Amino acid sequence: MQVGLKVWRFNSRTGERELQEYEIAAPEEATLLDCLDIVKDQHDGTLAYRKSCRMMICGSCGMRMDGAAVLACKTRMYDIAQAGHVPVISAMGNLPIVKDLVVDMEPFWEKFRSVDPYLQPGYEEPPDGKEYRVTQARMNVIHKEALCINCGCCVSECNSMEADPNFLGPQALAKAMRFVGDPRDGNKIARLEKLNGEHGIWECTRCYMCTERCPKGVDPRDAIAKLGAESMYEGIDRDMGAKHANWFVVSAKTTGWLRETELVPKTQGIIAAIKQTRFALDLALKGKVPPPFPPHVAKDVKESRRLYELTTQQGPKGYMGIVQGEHALSRLAHGHTAEGETLAEIYERPGAFKRPFIAGEELEAPVFLEKPPER
Ligand code: SF4
Ligand code: SF4
Ligand code: FES
Repeated sequence: MQVGLKVWRFNSRTGERELQEYEIAAPEEATLLDCLDIVKDQHDGTLAYRKSCRMMICGSCGMRMDGAAVLACKTRMYDIAQAGHVPVISAMGNLPIVKDLVVDMEPFWEKFRSVDPYLQPGYEEPPDGKEYRVTQARMNVIHKEALCINCGCCVSECNSMEADPNFLGPQALAKAMRFVGDPRDGNKIARLEKLNGEHGIWECTRCYMCTERCPKGVDPRDAIAKLGAESMYEGIDRDMGAKHANWFVVSAKTTGWLRETELVPKTQGIIAAIKQTRFALDLALKGKVPPPFPPHVAKDVKESRRLYELTTQQGPKGYMGIVQGEHALSRLAHGHTAEGETLAEIYERPGAFKRPFIAGEELEAPVFLEKPPER
C-alpha cells in the first residue's frame, strides 16, 4: 500500500521547524512505526524517533498522530492509507522536544521518581515462614495501574500539565496508586500526605484525556479518583480540592443540586470570600450566579438524598469504593435495555460507543471488594 506521512521536523539547536511530507510503499500490515522505519531506511536517514520493542511493551515510541498521542508500534496504517488520509506526525506534548519526534523524558522521570515507585514493606511477616499472600480482590484494585509502560502518552495530553508543568501528572499519579493500593506497602499515609500537597491530585481537572489516550488501559483518571477517595477516608482533606468535593456532596445531599455560589466560603474560608465580594457581585449582576438565599431545593431532592444514603450504607470506603466504570455499569438495570441484554451486547449495537479496553475485565462478574482493615 502507498502511505503518506507529514512529519514535523525540529532541530532544538537551531530552532528550525519544518513540516516534511513523505510518500512510501509499505506492506498492508504496517504500523506507523514500520512506516517511520521505511522512511528512515529508504528515504531520509536524518529522521529522529525512539523505538525498541515494537510490541507495545517498552513505551519508547510515544508520539502524536493528528494531534493525539499514540504508540507508533500499536497504530495500524491500513485504514488511514485506504481512506487517502495523510496524517500529521509530531512529537508528544508537555515535554521539551530534542529532535523531530524525540522528547526529553527527564521531567517525566523526575516526577516518576518523586512518588517513590517501589514497595516499602510494612506488613507483618507470616510467623511460620510462609509467603505473604494478597487476595485477588485486593490486587484487582491496582491491576490497571500495574499495566503502565511509562510511555508518556497520558502526560502528552494532560490539560493540567499544560497550565502547570509542575503538576505531578497522570503517569506519576497512576504509579503512586499502584503502591498506595498495595496492601504490602507500609508507607500509605505518608504517600497520601505528599500526594495531597501542591501540584498533587487535586490539580487534576478531570478532563479524562489521559484515560482516553492511554494505550494500555491504565485509566490514570480512575487512579487519581482512587487516591482522592482514599485520602478522604484517611481524613486527609485539607486541600481546597478536597473541600470542594466535600461541599459538592453536602450540597447535593441537602438541596439536590450543586450550590456553587457557596463554594468559595466553604472551600477558601470567609476572609477569602469577603475579598472576592466585588467579583461575586459582578457575576450576580450579569446573571452568572443564582442568589444564595433562599437556597434552591430541587423538586426531586429525595432521589439525591436516597442516592447518598445508598452509597454511604452499601459502598466500601476509600479506594475500595471506587468501582471501575465497567463493573459499575454491569450492575445497573437500564430501563431502556431489551430484556436479558448484557452490557457486552449493548456495546455491540449498531452505532454504540466503542467498548473501553480494561484488561482482565469480566463484564458479567463484577468484583465486590473486601473492606480494608480498620486502622
Ligand atoms: S484527567 Fe487529570 S490527569 Fe488526566 S489528563 Fe485530565 S487533568 Fe490530566
Ligand atoms: S498511564 Fe498509560 S499513557 Fe500513561 S505512561 Fe502509563 S501506559 Fe503510558
Ligand atoms: S517500540 Fe516499544 S512500545 Fe512501541
